Amino acid sequence: MKLLVLGSAAGGGFPQWNCNCRNCDGVRKGTVRALPRTQSSIAVSTDGRDWVLFNASPDIHAQIRANPCLQPGRGLRDTGIAGVVLIDAQIDHTTGLFMLREGRPLDIWCTPQVREDLSTGNPIFNVLSHFCTVRWQPLQVTPPVAFTVPAAPGLRFTPVPLASKAPPYSPHRHDAHAGDNIGVLIEETATGKRIFYAPGFGAMEDHLESCLAAADCVLLDGTFWTDDEMIRMGLSANTARGIGHLPQSGPGGMMALLSRYHKPRKLLIHINNTNPILDEDSPERAELTRAGIEVAWDGMLIDTGDKQ
Ligand code: MLT
Ligand code: MN
Ligand code: ZN
Repeated sequence: MKLLVLGSAAGGGFPQWNCNCRNCDGVRKGTVRALPRTQSSIAVSTDGRDWVLFNASPDIHAQIRANPCLQPGRGLRDTGIAGVVLIDAQIDHTTGLFMLREGRPLDIWCTPQVREDLSTGNPIFNVLSHFCTVRWQPLQVTPPVAFTVPAAPGLRFTPVPLASKAPPYSPHRHDAHAGDNIGVLIEETATGKRIFYAPGFGAMEDHLESCLAAADCVLLDGTFWTDDEMIRMGLSANTARGIGHLPQSGPGGMMALLSRYHKPRKLLIHINNTNPILDEDSPERAELTRAGIEVAWDGMLIDTGDKQ
């Protein structure tokens, strides 16, 4: 199976348009060794022709241009995007849907909670229905029900709930529901290879144990290095955990958690522009590398058929 990283940054991208933090300023001026990154999205395929898009980032036009395999040009109007899976209703994961409005009917897999947010607080589905048909494909997470995307054969997806947060505009922002955020275990049926994708991994939970242990590769929440990163930088009053993101460092953090698993290739994705791991020469990046954890970058291709 092929997994293409379309966008590896969290909301805002890297550099963020209005940000002059050390990372953003440094990548703009070329004084920090770091790769610019677009907002959070991946695509998965078995044959490299038909792709399942995970999240529709506001940067989707640039991502399609940067990855011509998503535009195979088999007809006057054509796309390599066989279906869209939304893992939450956040702006960085959904507003790119507007950019797909000229297409054929859109098949969108998401939970009832995400559909509600996208029909009320941020009514993207209602607006889109004036341009193209939205065909909602409901995802069930309690208990998880596996699904397939018929136009991208050979893959099976199991959605699992993640303890995290609904977006700020959600009618149930302060009343968390299973299904506000999900992780997805992606399995190639022919080979049994599995990738666990969970960019909104806010906390360890019992049911995630098997996803982490069974996977050949994991792509997990890389938003923040420390819990108080945004507070210390004077950018926000929120902790990482407070907005549903497990920080990498410290007791109970992502590095400590991943040290318990030996099978999977370990990657972080959805990196916030403030995170010191973006600086390839930083001590934090070196610590991550020593822990055997990679940082995803835009254009990165993970092929589970490759020898590692
Ligand atoms: C998040 O996941 O918390 C987001 O990246 C927030 C946003 O899109 O602004
Ligand atoms: Mn996000
Ligand atoms: Zn910044």
